[in-house]
Amino acid sequence: MSIDFRHPISRRSLLLAGAGLALAAPLRSWPARGAAPKEIRLTAEPARAQLAGADHPPSDVWAYDGRIPGPTLRLRQGEAVRFLVENRLDQDTTVHWHGIRLPNAMDGVPGLTQPPIKPGESFLYEFTPPDAGTFWYHPHANSLEQLGRGLAGALIVEEPEHIPVDRDVLWVLADWRIDEQGEIAPGFGNMMEAGMSGRVGNTVTLNGTIPADQPVRAGERLRLRLLNFSLARIMALRFEGHDPVIIARDGQPCDPHQLKDGRLLLGPAMRIDLLLDLQGEPGRRYRITDGFYQGLGYELARLAYSDEPPLRTKTPEPIRLPPNPLPEPDLASVEHHELALEGGMMSRMMGGGMISGGGMMHGMGGMSGMGRAIWSINGTSMTGDGHSGMAPLFLLARGKSHLVMIRNQTAWWHPMHLHGLSFRVLTRNGSPVPHNQWADTMLLAPEDVVEIAFVADNPGDWMLHCHITDHQTAGMMTVLRVA
Ligand code: C2O
Ligand code: CU
Repeated sequence: MSIDFRHPISRRSLLLAGAGLALAAPLRSWPARGAAPKEIRLTAEPARAQLAGADHPPSDVWAYDGRIPGPTLRLRQGEAVRFLVENRLDQDTTVHWHGIRLPNAMDGVPGLTQPPIKPGESFLYEFTPPDAGTFWYHPHANSLEQLGRGLAGALIVEEPEHIPVDRDVLWVLADWRIDEQGEIAPGFGNMMEAGMSGRVGNTVTLNGTIPADQPVRAGERLRLRLLNFSLARIMALRFEGHDPVIIARDGQPCDPHQLKDGRLLLGPAMRIDLLLDLQGEPGRRYRITDGFYQGLGYELARLAYSDEPPLRTKTPEPIRLPPNPLPEPDLASVEHHELALEGGMMSRMMGGGMISGGGMMHGMGGMSGMGRAIWSINGTSMTGDGHSGMAPLFLLARGKSHLVMIRNQTAWWHPMHLHGLSFRVLTRNGSPVPHNQWADTMLLAPEDVVEIAFVADNPGDWMLHCHITDHQTAGMMTVLRVA
């Protein structure tokens, strides 16, 4: 084989990538011609970044291609892509393509779907994104620290047709805990935090820097893609003087609708595409605030209008994104399942020592020594980031429709993420959820009960976990098998 990568791929990785690789055209045939897949290299490496603003020294980070956030990957719906991921960290890593419905072997869960990528080694990910929309990528190994030190990037899958907006704008929001020296504070995996809201930081960045004024022009229509890359910070955004319309959640188009009570909830890992018509006055500034945590509200950014006259005077009708090819669950024939989320501070689990309530512990936890279970799903706690021998909690018959009721029996919020499938959100606390909403990450308030449904058309072992990373690594994780 003639592959001229800077570093050889391990034999194991090559084998795992499948026989297709050996038979395919040499990988260096980039740029792709004809039907050859697009090829993108991505390197996880230590770097420095000016996270805390220009008047602070740069911080040590871990980053894809040395950038915070990592490079924005733009793919086209239905077009094959290959990512050669090289690990230049001093610890194992993987990449999970969050929200993309892809083959299980490409899902990036160490031990479960692939061997971890060792330092100095590479792994070839190969898939064809079926859905257009706003997705992201991040490691699934030592997640608390790797995500918390900056390894994450946006992945945009473009619709084949032009979407009629004036600008397509991406706001990657991320939360950091920066210490007095301007470095990312150590202490990942603090058990007290893990039992509460997780490692919420003290610095929020927008596209990797302290948010400044965001320049806009009156009359413009933006597609504003919001992504929350935080380890733990949930956001509740308000747009002073504006009336944004939600057109997609977690990449999946929904019926266009306004914010409920003027507030946009964005938990870790969630994405929202907004249609933002700039109906403010030229020359003015409008605040965007985040007031999720009581008493800790702050101004996230400002829409700063230029003095130019409005681009248009009449606001056009809302647009609807073209639908993705999602299989519609058949509610008449669904199989029912239940997931009960338990644990955390103020629960039996944290009061009664290691694990109580009949819990059973799988695995030994992550690389940072986080092995203690303080959360559970159906009485079982899988800890860490993924490892071999994770027994599925239940089997989902392939090709069938499934309805999963998730009960949050804790005093805390949880953005619950299912790998490999997008689900339709049916009800919340007994009321139907309007606007035809699909998601891959579902935010549950304390005591919330939600029902989701999907067709289990993608075979494999799929993780389901809370995306507050401290909660995931401390037990709020499980595996569902589609077979
Ligand atoms: Cu972004 Cu296991 O997930
Ligand atoms: Cu959680």
